[in-house]
Amino acid sequence: MTSWSAVEFLELAERIAREAGEMLLAKRPARPEVLATKSSPTDVVTALDRASEELIRARIKEARPHDAILGEEGGATGGGRVRWVVDPIDGTVNFLYGVPEWAVSIAVEADGEIVAGVVNIVPRGEVFTAARGEGAWLAGERLRCNSGVRLDRALIATGFGYEPGRRAVQAEVLAHVLPRVRDIRRGGSAASDLCALAAGRVDGYYERGPQYWDWAAGGLVATEAGARIGGLHGRPCSPELTICAAPGLFEELHDLLAPLDPERDA
Ligand code: IPD
Ligand code: CA
Ligand code: CA
Ligand code: CA
Repeated sequence: MTSWSAVEFLELAERIAREAGEMLLAKRPARPEVLATKSSPTDVVTALDRASEELIRARIKEARPHDAILGEEGGATGGGRVRWVVDPIDGTVNFLYGVPEWAVSIAVEADGEIVAGVVNIVPRGEVFTAARGEGAWLAGERLRCNSGVRLDRALIATGFGYEPGRRAVQAEVLAHVLPRVRDIRRGGSAASDLCALAAGRVDGYYERGPQYWDWAAGGLVATEAGARIGGLHGRPCSPELTICAAPGLFEELHDLLAPLDPERDA
């Protein structure tokens, strides 16, 4: 018997994502400071990345003390059938510069499946939500991604992971993709890119390097809006490659990217 409800998880996740967003807006200094760097000098962390994750973890623990949590800043804690997947600020570089495109992303996984997701794009006041089987929503409107778009007419969002060795290959892949699509958008937040896809603001998305917390919530928003998400050759999404688009365009994008071997390092 199932002892959880995706809609209840979503309500809690949304409440927490909104509270974290309010805290971040209230505490964001005019010029946030880089506290540390991670995989490369351009992969930055601010004090508020950590504060946001601490707040989110505290609220999850208050409400559901036995659940597991995977967060970008705090790693993996706990065990059990329910796991929360947290990106406390997705788009830290935008947050640093005051570019109004960063998000709090929280997903809930039950028995290994993502069942609820919220992406709070804080500076825009847009809160995207999805519960498995219940659709994707923004401000009371049900979302549908664009369908029937050919690759050469498609607006494609992408991102560039920070790990050393990746960027030169990403540039090569981009040089191959750009002349074959309508245009490229690099927003700076994978969670926001996937929500933009759900809302029909872009047609497709691909990226090499994204981690689970980058796409867990936004991926559910996109799939509940009719998109397909996955990796290469039927594999699940992974840092190797994550692709998202409506069926049809997904396959075209996949077939464009697959021969480029985006896994190799420069
Ligand atoms: C990053 C953003 C960016 C993507 C990177 C991510 P962060 O997350 O989602 O759009 O291109 O791959 O690492 O570090 O700002 O949470
Ligand atoms: Ca992220
Ligand atoms: Ca982050
Ligand atoms: Ca980060």
